[in-house]
Amino acid sequence: MRNKDSKFKRRSHEAATFLKRFFTHPGRIGSVAPSSKFLAHAILSQVDWANAKNIAELGAGTGVFTRDIVKLARADANILVFEIDVSLRRLIKEEHPEHKGLKLYSDAQKLGEAMRENNIENFDYIISSLPFTVLPHDMSENILNAVNKTLSAKGRFIAYQYSRIMKHTLQEKFSDIKSQYVLLNIPPAFVFNCARGASRTGSY
Ligand SMILES: C[S@@+](CC[C@H](N)C(=O)[O-])C[C@H]1O[C@@H](n2cnc3c(N)ncnc32)[C@H](O)[C@@H]1O
Repeated sequence: MRNKDSKFKRRSHEAATFLKRFFTHPGRIGSVAPSSKFLAHAILSQVDWANAKNIAELGAGTGVFTRDIVKLARADANILVFEIDVSLRRLIKEEHPEHKGLKLYSDAQKLGEAMRENNIENFDYIISSLPFTVLPHDMSENILNAVNKTLSAKGRFIAYQYSRIMKHTLQEKFSDIKSQYVLLNIPPAFVFNCARGASRTGSY
């Protein structure tokens, strides 16, 4: 019972922090509430956890996916988590103070640098919650190019969006794109699962 209470308190605190951050930076946060467990499941069930050694999470927010990634990942996995908002990053740090494989970074544009800093050759999975349609165009371009360059040949980039606006851009940059619609989320979301593209231009 006490466990349930503290979980509820934690979730309420997270939801309140997230909403506050949305009012401060609407164009960066991109949504009013953390993702649902249904969206988390739709995304994370697409990962082959037994073979996922190097994982990046972009736009972690309050850490709704991070929490499950940490539980599902191999003990020796490298988990590089990017969250630009310092208050949200702090929440994640507080929740996983001791996890050795989990490293927190700010801007997802630094994906390549963080990868090299950790002596990682490439990523098996890059999981993104970034609101590409509302981020500055250059920032979105830099991040998508970095994703394309840092993903392994068999790696997958799994990203959700609240509209299909990004589909064309994803088709230009990536290959073998599969999509799925998740209704049970506020707002409902499209999940895109992509392999890296043939043309891997741009810096990272
Ligand atoms: C829609 S929220 C998703 C949060 C969480 N993953 C979820 O699904 O509930 C997007 C998050 O991306 C973060 N973000 C925006 N631009 C970023 C960037 N360049 N690098 C890292 N995080 C960024 C925002 O601060 C926000 O927390």
